[in-house]
Amino acid sequence: MSLRIEKLHETIGAEITGVDLAKPLTDADMAAIERAWLEHIVLVFPGQDLDQEAQLRFAGQFGIVGERSRPAAIRPEGADFHPAVMLISNIRENGKPIGSLPDGEMWFHHDMCYVAEPYRGTMLYAMEIPSHGGNTLFADMYAAYDRLGAATKERIAGARALQIYNYSVTEKVPLDGDLDAYPHYVQPVAITHPRTRRKALYVNPLITARIEGLPGDESDALLEELFGFAEDRGLIYEHVWREGDLVMWDNWCSCHARTDFPETERRLLRRCTILGEALAE
Ligand SMILES: [Fe+2]
Repeated sequence: MSLRIEKLHETIGAEITGVDLAKPLTDADMAAIERAWLEHIVLVFPGQDLDQEAQLRFAGQFGIVGERSRPAAIRPEGADFHPAVMLISNIRENGKPIGSLPDGEMWFHHDMCYVAEPYRGTMLYAMEIPSHGGNTLFADMYAAYDRLGAATKERIAGARALQIYNYSVTEKVPLDGDLDAYPHYVQPVAITHPRTRRKALYVNPLITARIEGLPGDESDALLEELFGFAEDRGLIYEHVWREGDLVMWDNWCSCHARTDFPETERRLLRRCTILGEALAE
């Protein structure tokens, strides 16, 4: 069995086969996966059989695994899973979801962009998947930066944006309330990826609230223009999940969204994250 890498899209997404992530990987395979991650942004490993320990062991080879960040009050209770694991699920027991982010569509976002040291990566392992929908759209944010006109690139040079999140799926934090009630951090509008040194647009419709230092209407108009990437299918890979898929993505140069799915069907994925570092323009 030897590792094979096949592109899923022109610039974002590749499928890797010929590797069993539940077993120790050779140094050569790990190096190939690291290289592929930097090049393809999103990696899909189909047909994996991973318990949470195996998933965390694989994640731990890319950096320090993050503990889940949701406040206990909005976290499902009684789950016997590891503190670094978050279940994404609409399955309900005694009327309460067993996981987070249970239902329906979710807008484009970068995971953990609202902290001082945004997480580098996220890994999601598919355990139960509905018959249709609940796909994950991954946008190439290098390409989202590159597609901007010269005037816009100049306008966002040096600009910073407020990232603030209230753990919802299709609703922004209202800016007229107490912002300290929610986790937030000001980040560059475009970042330089710490490993590849490429420029990536770093704003998204769910979490980015405003451009600092601009009047509200100007900030709204500029963000609207920057969010145009979400409608540009040319820079988006749509992942249709199969049970046994392990998908890992780079949160510094991609963001992702979820399509709607039937509420009558079960969806269960196991998430873990890889810590990152402060980002600069
Ligand atoms: Fe996410």
